[in-house]
Amino acid sequence: MSAVLITGGAGFIGTNFIYFLRRQHPDWLLVNLDLLTYAGNADNLTGLKDDPGHIFVRGDVADRELVAELFARHRIERVVHFAAETHVDRSIIDPGVFVRTNVQGTFTLLEAARQAWMELPPARPRFLHVSTDEVYGSLGPEDPPAAEDAPYAPNSPYAASKAGADFLVRSYIRTYGFPALITNCSNNYGPYQFPEKLIPFALSQALQGGPIPIYGRGGNVRDWLFVEDHCRALLMVLEAGQAGETYNIAGGEERPNLELVRLLLKLLQEKRPDLGDLAKLITFVPDRPGHDWRYALNTGKIEAALGWRPLVTLEEGLRRTIGWYLEHQDWLERLRSTEYRAFLRQQYGAELKGRQQPGPGRIGAGS
Ligand code: NAD
Ligand code: TYD
Repeated sequence: MSAVLITGGAGFIGTNFIYFLRRQHPDWLLVNLDLLTYAGNADNLTGLKDDPGHIFVRGDVADRELVAELFARHRIERVVHFAAETHVDRSIIDPGVFVRTNVQGTFTLLEAARQAWMELPPARPRFLHVSTDEVYGSLGPEDPPAAEDAPYAPNSPYAASKAGADFLVRSYIRTYGFPALITNCSNNYGPYQFPEKLIPFALSQALQGGPIPIYGRGGNVRDWLFVEDHCRALLMVLEAGQAGETYNIAGGEERPNLELVRLLLKLLQEKRPDLGDLAKLITFVPDRPGHDWRYALNTGKIEAALGWRPLVTLEEGLRRTIGWYLEHQDWLERLRSTEYRAFLRQQYGAELKGRQQPGPGRIGAGS
């Protein structure tokens, strides 16, 4: 049985990837290492509770002994590394944990894999490091999308910690001939996304009639990718990508934030006219410090090399996402009742409704 170590498999993309992988490879052993931070949710994996080929381990990627033991015990042949701190706003409030998990955690995993594979080389070892378009920094409106050889220019502590991890992976490839691959992906959305990122947060707020904060004037541009398209790309890279290479992955659906949120609310309103006029919930708040203007990726390499392209349009993906959140309001409710509430209080103050809220623009400004 081929053993894959998946880190962060109880988070948003990790959960989607595990279900996707399970459908493609029912016979693989999936060892899922996740610390279950606020962003990880064991509930996500109940669909696998009777699956003997899925082993869940609650633990830290930066725990050297644990990670080494997992490699030895399960004869891990492949790694898909998702585990990370991922929210830019949190990285502004508390950057230390981003450095620890994203940089130190990636280093620990790389080193454990290198040691294990040196001692007992599997037939085709692969280490897929999942990264982000944010490492390339902010683009202007007229800039061409970043290709894989674009210089790194991370601006937020999150992006810098991911860039640091990417550089470590790169150094292992160059120095040790380590069989790693890196993917840099644009903003994902879809089922199981923790309601702090823009799309699930806006949906969650709309369902409660709460304010939907738009940073600045809402002109910042992101390129949106439905998570299932990302999972398909990752499996292609894992199986057919060239070791040592980097692949960009993106949806080709660039939208300014305000336009995206308006579209999301229009589609939600079509399904739930009883929610009333949702556009009135849009609330402009002070901008995020260092807010990158635009991300966009050139995906020509993965298209030419592996034949991947996104299959789900933005509108279709948003409809599917809205459908999932409407069917899983209990999932949302459980998150709202714990860490999420604390986060909202920290970001927007205790009183959430009916007034202009201080946004992350206030963070670091002594507020
Ligand atoms: P997420 O925040 O939803 O999930 C992260 C998971 O990692 C959680 O389950 C959490 O419990 C786990 N984790 C955190 N610290 C850990 C630690 N020390 N040890 C073990 N597990 C730990 O993140 P996501 O959106 O699913 O992103 C997954 C990966 O994809 C990240 O590496 C992220 O940088 C990358 N990525 C995300 C996006 C996006 O739009 N979400 C885009 C491009 C790349
Ligand atoms: P986010 O989902 O946090 O992803 P990232 O910052 O990694 O791209 O934010 C997406 C965009 O939406 C980004 O430009 C910031 C903006 N944004 C808002 O305007 N309001 C919000 O409440 C959030 C969470 C984000």
